[in-house]
Amino acid sequence: MTAPLTLLGIESSCDDTAAAVVRGTQVLSSVVYGQTGLHAAFGGVVPEIAARAHAEKLDHCVEQALHEADLPLLALDGIAVTAGPGLIGGVLSGVMCAKGLSAATGLPLIGVNHLAGHALTPRLTDQLPYPYLMLLVSGGHCQFLIVEGHDRFRRIGGTIDDAPGEAFDKVARLLGLPQPGGPSVEKAALTGDTKRFTFPRPLLNQPGCDMSFSGLKTAILRARDAVVAEKGGLTAQDQSDLSAGFQAAVTDVLAEKTRRALEIYLALNPQTPSFAIAGGVAANGSIRDRLTALCAALDTDFVAPPLRLCTDNAAMIAFAGLEQMAAGARDDLTLSARPRWPLDNRAAPMLGSGKKGAKA
Ligand code: KG4
Ligand code: ZN
Repeated sequence: MTAPLTLLGIESSCDDTAAAVVRGTQVLSSVVYGQTGLHAAFGGVVPEIAARAHAEKLDHCVEQALHEADLPLLALDGIAVTAGPGLIGGVLSGVMCAKGLSAATGLPLIGVNHLAGHALTPRLTDQLPYPYLMLLVSGGHCQFLIVEGHDRFRRIGGTIDDAPGEAFDKVARLLGLPQPGGPSVEKAALTGDTKRFTFPRPLLNQPGCDMSFSGLKTAILRARDAVVAEKGGLTAQDQSDLSAGFQAAVTDVLAEKTRRALEIYLALNPQTPSFAIAGGVAANGSIRDRLTALCAALDTDFVAPPLRLCTDNAAMIAFAGLEQMAAGARDDLTLSARPRWPLDNRAAPMLGSGKKGAKA
């Protein structure tokens, strides 16, 4: 048996600077430096600030990942780096860092698609065999992918505007709840009445697995303004009821679109009934419970990797690089950073590019 490969992974495509060392399916270290505080005053990620912070932090982050893995650079088999899609300044910082390390050590360089990193995570955490259906749902992404191989993805639907995490963050801002919005809206919703406000379930009346979340956010804005006009402000109960109504709408949309995506997937792959989820929104209890129940009803395995590997991290990049390298893939110093990089070139391009960068 050949020894598993050991790779350094580098991730800097959005607002997390991350480095990790992965050997086979073992995460030897995974370091993530967040930037939430740097962008808090601006209501979204500021690309220039993000790029500068990545450039400042990458060296320390890589050093710490190697230190925690207790390995020198030369003990590695290669260096994997996110080469897109994402905010171009950040992606460039990571690619330049990886090229420098590769040029200095002679270690092979592997450019990884950030979305492939998310999509392959269930193989790192649960050794899930191909094929499986993946719902990638975060602050920047929302798509259904049939994962057939490390470089074979079929996108069968996705958001045509905002990603759900982005909608959670915007709704939190509208309601005066803290960022990141997902956890605070979920917490407020716990004591809320889902029936007090009826919000739309966008695109449910249309066939297919595409989704839309931007109109929902506008509906919350109108409902909030109506309450404020009537009472002069929002009580904690109003915040909770609005949060509960919003979360129920997002949950309904994700559950119904997942049911349809599973129907398509299972018709093509009846022998491998597996569904996996990734991205920060996967932390939401209401969404997770509905998807768990849906999978149970359809006799489908449900894989939800631990949250630290669901959100942006470099272990998923190292692992995707490892799969690519095992299949013979190599890049060199001509590797370029790509702001857009769809996983499935046959699928129609996605619209929009929200606060966290390209969604394609
Ligand atoms: O995957 P992630 O860390 O970063 C990217 O967007 O790539 O996801 C962060 C997003 C944020 O928008 C955050 O509000 C959302 O995930 N999120 C949640 C929850 N926890 C985090 N959304 C809903 N419910 C949660 N509990
Ligand atoms: Zn991501």
